[in-house]
Amino acid sequence: MNTIDTILNHRSIRKYKPDPVPENVLNDMLNAGIRASNTGNMQVYSMIVTRDEALRKQLCGFHFGQKMVEQAPVHITFCADINRFNKWCRMRKAEPGYDNLLWFVNAAIDALLASQNVCVAAEAHGLGICYLGTATYNADKIIELLDIPHGVIPVAAIVAGYPDDNPPLTDRLPMEAVVHYEKYQDYSNEAISALYAERESQEFTKNLLIENNVETLAQVFTERRYATKDNVFFSEKYLGLLKKQGFLNHGE
Ligand SMILES: Cc1cc2nc3c(=O)[nH]c(=O)nc-3n(C[C@H](O)[C@H](O)[C@H](O)COP(=O)(O)O)c2cc1C
Repeated sequence: MNTIDTILNHRSIRKYKPDPVPENVLNDMLNAGIRASNTGNMQVYSMIVTRDEALRKQLCGFHFGQKMVEQAPVHITFCADINRFNKWCRMRKAEPGYDNLLWFVNAAIDALLASQNVCVAAEAHGLGICYLGTATYNADKIIELLDIPHGVIPVAAIVAGYPDDNPPLTDRLPMEAVVHYEKYQDYSNEAISALYAERESQEFTKNLLIENNVETLAQVFTERRYATKDNVFFSEKYLGLLKKQGFLNHGE
């Protein structure tokens, strides 16, 4: 499969065979991550590859018990990382000024560009992957378990391994929902309804409404999956952690 076909065939895999990922395949994935564009070629990110079963079991708990974390042979935590660069600067008579929001954003971008390259490379090798948003929800516990130092914070995690499932492609909104030519074209109510019409009319959606006992698909998100009180709770937790890990100190 060529690169475009690999990308267009992406689907998240949530069931894995126990077969280990060969070392050369893992190295290809990690090299693909390293080859990604990054801020100033400073590479202000780190990738923590966890294959140890006992550690993966503990990580599984921090990822709200998602079974794939225990099942998949590889777990990678992608971190925004100013620790390494700061150390180098200080050893070379240079005073780093990266303990601020701008550099968290830069470092998070670096980490995420690397993570997506890792994922594409994994899929090109016939592996499955799934992102774990829970990496930011329980970043404090992951930091403790994986000995992550000051100046480093998880921004994403993935599992990778050989798929034990072949789910269908999930839908996407039509291209005009997400692409704006020349300037941003804001959405009228009619445009919003048209863009979401197909998704809202699917059988899958109708079943979701029954399962969740709600009236609209939007309510599945706002009331069931990502409710305000959880969003606020985990935002405050992550904000506190950003400060603790040295990303929001603004030179103090
Ligand atoms: C940042 C991020 C966090 C995610 N977290 C989870 C997760 O915790 N559990 C899960 O099963 N899928 C997770 N996913 C996968 C998405 O649900 C999935 O990509 C989306 O539903 C589209 O499906 P597809 O990847 O199969 O095309 C996450 C994806 C992203 C990008």
